[in-house]
Amino acid sequence: MNWDNARRLLSFPSRKAAPPVLESSELPPCDPLAAVRARSLCIVSGKGGTGKSTLTASLASSFEHYGRALLVDADLGVGNAHLFCDLQPKRTLADVVSGKCSALEAVVSVRGQLDLLAGGSGCLGVASLGQEQMQRLASGLYSLEERYHSILIDGAAGLNTQTLGLAASVDLVLVVTTPDVTAMTDAYAFIKVLCASRPGLVPRLVVNRVIDPREGHAVAERMQAVAAKFLDLEIKLLSVLPEDRSAHRCTQRRRPVVLEEPDQPLGRALADLARRLEAELDQVHPHGVGRVLRHRLGRGSRTAAEVQGA
Ligand SMILES: Nc1ncnc2c1ncn2[C@@H]1O[C@H](COP(=O)(O)OP(=O)(O)O)[C@@H](O)[C@H]1O
Ligand SMILES: [Mg+2]
Repeated sequence: MNWDNARRLLSFPSRKAAPPVLESSELPPCDPLAAVRARSLCIVSGKGGTGKSTLTASLASSFEHYGRALLVDADLGVGNAHLFCDLQPKRTLADVVSGKCSALEAVVSVRGQLDLLAGGSGCLGVASLGQEQMQRLASGLYSLEERYHSILIDGAAGLNTQTLGLAASVDLVLVVTTPDVTAMTDAYAFIKVLCASRPGLVPRLVVNRVIDPREGHAVAERMQAVAAKFLDLEIKLLSVLPEDRSAHRCTQRRRPVVLEEPDQPLGRALADLARRLEAELDQVHPHGVGRVLRHRLGRGSRTAAEVQGA
């Protein structure tokens, strides 16, 4: 990836360009009169195949019970969140970031209170987005977030600009790893880069596909110890999820595990994880992922209409 580009996009305007209007958490200041924006959660992992989409599909289904929810697939190359919803949307987030349609035009209804903004499929590849595309992404989410109670983002694998930018702008980041050492290493690398651009962040951790719960806790303890020692960072373990064939069966049927096989060990653990996340999100003031991302991209950010008209 283009690191200079990523760093530039994720950094704040210099103090010279913008006086210190930021809170210590490096988020835009709260405006008590502003409309309420959706609570936002981004599910990430350094490596692909750790179970992000499996988790996000179930969490989104659980979250719709708390209020209107939007599932955003941030994978613009090989997004597949729509498969877990059994949908084939005509328009995707890739169309939004390339200016072909508005974010609202790309949103489709999944069921009840759940909507989907699908990712791209073979359109842009997994390469990092440029400034103009990042602005369209930010403005697109900004235009949607007053309509929802929760926005859940299924992050693309790897250290690409959009996933880092989104993860640095949401209210809560959920890092998914498996006990696989390459997954752990990649998850740690993601956390390291993310936390450099979002001081004070406490990533939440899920260890997925665990055969023995002790193994899951050992994985979490190892990551927590390394992060504390080398990054002076707290990682909070939220859940250890079992290896369970129901994941595969539900993917085949294109249904979330919590709806299709809620009584299997994975379904129960995912429902419990959703409750924990809900409790955590209940404690935070929702800043609005689009609002924060626009702020982070700097004063050059424009509205969705302005960007599309450009
Ligand atoms: N807890 C689990 N037990 C067994 N298989 C799982 C589990 N979680 C995910 N999987 C399987 O792992 C594969 C990758 O999952 P996916 O959600 O697509 O990962 P990602 O979105 O991170 O690339 C899928 O085949 C899925 O069924
Ligand atoms: Mg996925």
